Amino acid sequence: MKINKIGITTGGGDAPGLNAVIRAAVLSSLGRGWECVGIRDGYNGLLERGRYPESGLIRLERESVRGITHLGGTILGTTNRGNPFHYPTLNSSGTYSEVDRSDDVVAAAKDHRLDAIISVGGDGSMAIAHALCRKGMRLVGVPKTIDNDLDGTVVTFGFDTAVAFATSCLDRLHSTAEAHRRIMVVEVMGRYAGWIALHAGLSGTADAILIPEIPYNLDSVIRKIKEREGQGRTFSIVVVAEGAYPAGGEHVVQNKEVGRAERLGGIGDQVAADLQELSGQDTRAVVLGHLLRGGSPSTSDRLIALRFGAAAVRALDEGLSDCMVALDPPTVRYVPLTEATQRMKQVPLDGDTIQTARDLGISLGD
Ligand code: F6P
Repeated sequence: MKINKIGITTGGGDAPGLNAVIRAAVLSSLGRGWECVGIRDGYNGLLERGRYPESGLIRLERESVRGITHLGGTILGTTNRGNPFHYPTLNSSGTYSEVDRSDDVVAAAKDHRLDAIISVGGDGSMAIAHALCRKGMRLVGVPKTIDNDLDGTVVTFGFDTAVAFATSCLDRLHSTAEAHRRIMVVEVMGRYAGWIALHAGLSGTADAILIPEIPYNLDSVIRKIKEREGQGRTFSIVVVAEGAYPAGGEHVVQNKEVGRAERLGGIGDQVAADLQELSGQDTRAVVLGHLLRGGSPSTSDRLIALRFGAAAVRALDEGLSDCMVALDPPTVRYVPLTEATQRMKQVPLDGDTIQTARDLGISLGD
């Protein structure tokens, strides 16, 4: 089917590089003579027309995407509370419940004469895109997340920027840790995968790295701290992924709201308190949190994002749908959305990055 008009949506937590995708997708579309609109806040722009007096859709012209490649965030807005299949809806008792509004998305897309949609998001957005394709819509996915936990692509944009920022924070924490002879525990995001913790921990010379893929035992971390003390090193840096948990224990969950994935966070404080008790050494916890998602995308993330945006448009032009753009160096390829959403990509324990950490004597808590 010939394309005249497409919609672009960004969903889930933002990641540096979203605006670069939008720019590439818009310019590639306009170059093909297609009209382009952005859907505000995930699918909310289609579902909640009343919320946007000036319209839930933004017309995207060459002018709209000028000078945005280097900007963090997303000019379209995003939400991680907007799954149309489980849409949080206020009921008469004043509480929220999840309602399936996917048919409203299909109808609104038709109303706006959208021939196809490019959905930029994480695993949740890719699952939604696949489910909408099954309802007859034409969609191509673009993977984004700082967590790098999406299967089917070697890497997602946003990850490099997050790792670079976390690494520079670790560099800074070394001097204050050393000055006070402290243990510094640094909690980083990443959900149920330890990619950010492992890559930043290695690059930032951490002494211990705790990731969800290896349930930890703090005795191993204490051994490392004592070994360092024996070498005259009276401070230590411990990186903890927010999804890490002790052997036999559970993830620390901050809360779970209707229509939203559970929020992790708090393990850093717990590890810091336990280490202080076990070692008797002054210990502090630092949570990097959303700082990892903010700011300008790194060069590498900008380039991946631009390549993904242009590739998504080429995919639509070739008549593809129900697929996701993926990085498969040296090129990009398209993987079926079913394949991309089958499983979460965690750190492989037999990979060389884990082996490198072990060879360098970093404690992984096991
Ligand atoms: O998926 C990206 C991410 O930043 C995770 O690392 C983190 O667990 C989550 O989003 C935080 O979400 P929110 O923005 O809702 O706090």
